[in-house]
Amino acid sequence: MTAARVLVLGGTGEGRLLADMLVQAGYDVVLSFAGRTSAPAPSLARVRSGGFGGAEGLAAYLTAERIAACVDATHPFAARMSANALAACESAGVPRMALVRPEWVPVDGDRWIPVDDLAQAARLLPAMGRRVFVAFADGLEALAELDLDFVVRRAEPGPVALARARVLVARGPFARDDERALFVAERIDVVLAKASGGKASRAKLDAARNLGLPVVLLRRPAPPPGPVADTTEAAGAWVRANAGP
Ligand SMILES: NC(=O)c1ccc[n+]([C@@H]2O[C@H](COP(=O)([O-])OP(=O)(O)OC[C@H]3O[C@@H](n4cnc5c(N)ncnc54)[C@H](OP(=O)(O)O)[C@@H]3O)[C@@H](O)[C@H]2O)c1
Repeated sequence: MTAARVLVLGGTGEGRLLADMLVQAGYDVVLSFAGRTSAPAPSLARVRSGGFGGAEGLAAYLTAERIAACVDATHPFAARMSANALAACESAGVPRMALVRPEWVPVDGDRWIPVDDLAQAARLLPAMGRRVFVAFADGLEALAELDLDFVVRRAEPGPVALARARVLVARGPFARDDERALFVAERIDVVLAKASGGKASRAKLDAARNLGLPVVLLRRPAPPPGPVADTTEAAGAWVRANAGP
């Protein structure tokens, strides 16, 4: 009997772990990336890279590749891909679930200011200091008019839409003490981050707490409707129940 084929839409450490776990359990796994990372961490699964061509392209791929089940393990801010996965799996009749890492929970001393979007962040930041650490590089046009100095960290080299920005290229996971040293060296007043969740990028929030710095935290987009797991184990159990043996 041939192994059931499972598509894992990746972009997170959890997606890679799930893909490896499913390969070890005997599934034929395709791990898909958007293709923005030049050297993704190795995987036991077959890896494909690049967009599918919207929901229609993904639906066609699901049918052509005889995908038995699909796990959307994309980044919590990858809302377009998640919406496409939902629509494509519905139209192709493929069971789908989302693996969504839990939200970060503040502890004593955290000074988080949640915002809905970067326009709201732009209204708040000038009152919070002069030097801003930004933990991502997309959408920064919304901050372009601010009379502030930015330190922007991104995973891959590329342009940043801010005139007064020092750009650091580095990929996590980061250690709290290194984040703390960076914030001190750069004389950071305030941190701007996405509420991505997960252990790999929590260190900057812990360093901010340690230094008493406020963190402007972009809220996640709403998760896609339908079944959701918050651990790779729960996602694996869903695959076993929905993809067949
Ligand atoms: N992707 C990542 O690895 C990643 C990692 C960290 C943070 N983020 C954050 O997530 C947000 C949006 O990122 P995004 O552009 O990746 O998502 P997106 O805006 O939801 O997706 C844009 C397009 O990229 C393609 N795509 C995305 N994920 C894919 C996957 N796993 N396999 C194949 N194609 C994929 C799809 O193209 P088609 O429509 O052509 O299929 C999709 O429509 C940003 O805020 C970014 O900072 C993403």
